[in-house]
Amino acid sequence: GTKDFVDSFGRRITYVRLSVTDRCDLRCRYCMAERMQFLPKREILTLEEMASLADILIARGVRKIRLTGGEPLVRKGVMELVRALGQRLGSGLDQLVLTTNGTRLERFADELSDAGIRRINVSLDSRRPERFGHITRGGDLNQVLRGIDAALTAGLAVKINMVALAGVNEDEIEEMLRWCAAMAIDLTLIETMPLGEVEEDRTDHYLPLDLVKRRLEKCFTLVPSTKRTGGPARYFEVTELQSCLGLITPLTNNFCEGCNRIRIAATGTVFGCLGHDQKVELRDALRSGGPQEVNGLLDRLLAGKPRRHDFRIGGAPAVARHMSVTGG
Ligand code: GTP
Ligand code: 5AD
Ligand code: SF4
Repeated sequence: GTKDFVDSFGRRITYVRLSVTDRCDLRCRYCMAERMQFLPKREILTLEEMASLADILIARGVRKIRLTGGEPLVRKGVMELVRALGQRLGSGLDQLVLTTNGTRLERFADELSDAGIRRINVSLDSRRPERFGHITRGGDLNQVLRGIDAALTAGLAVKINMVALAGVNEDEIEEMLRWCAAMAIDLTLIETMPLGEVEEDRTDHYLPLDLVKRRLEKCFTLVPSTKRTGGPARYFEVTELQSCLGLITPLTNNFCEGCNRIRIAATGTVFGCLGHDQKVELRDALRSGGPQEVNGLLDRLLAGKPRRHDFRIGGAPAVARHMSVTGG
């Protein structure tokens, strides 16, 4: 048999983030370089290879799979994979979820719901058309808003992810919280993380969420909640709005002790931590080896999984790869 799916610090891995493509139809300034080089197709796992890998992971005890990108919905045929993984729900897999920029949700929301997806996270850093266009380098806000509507209509639970950026969208956080509350959707704020070189200096836009929380507490009562979604967010009930606010604080409040996840890039490279280069390459083993070889490599990954990331704002990025390579 195979070994327990536990790392050298005793953390059980139950959550896999699977990036189905490194491509994206947006170019968020904090995420990608303006001229991002995308990978040639032969280096990317086929959808069938991704499904077999998912089966191996589920057999190891993985209970939650999140599809990420780039933008997962730009991968050709992605719904075949979603449907294949949807078949595993209830027999091993508990949660199949998706993180998306929302541009193609209008088209895919119904199919996602039919395939068994119940909950999606949509990235939305601004609700002002010009500002949204600036952050994403040309994105169309209305397309995303229509996508969110379509998702809600299809019965999907939506959580908005907003990267908090000083001097960019900090003046909009309170209104985003109010808007989400009115839509009965949750909002999670994220501290910008130094991954890959981008044109803008992340130091200039870094906004610590302890500060944001203090600002919000001037208008709202934030009561720590026991709610957990299996990711790094810590949640608060917003009494006045009867809504839920999540905070993801890699810089101001490290959460690595409870880490339950690994991430797989579209090439089949598996990373032990978002903030480190530690990895194993599964593509050859998936193509010409077998489950045993894949499992051996996964054991090696877990044995070397770093204790925590070491993000710091200022200085060089912690790792050279961009967020879009692993979808975060
Ligand atoms: P839930 O299932 O809703 O808890 O999702 P999630 O927060 O795990 O996933 P999502 O894709 O919405 O990620 C939100 C943010 O959290 C992204 O910016 C990710 O990069 C970041 N994130 C997720 N996992 C980790 C992690 O292990 N370490 C760090 N530093 N950031 C992470
Ligand atoms: N720091 C923090 N969050 C980031 N995201 C992309 N790049 C970064 C970064 N450098 C966010 C996206 C999306 C999620 C998957 O990660 O906005 O919501
Ligand atoms: Fe695309 Fe998401 Fe990166 Fe924006 S943050 S460029 S939407 S992958």
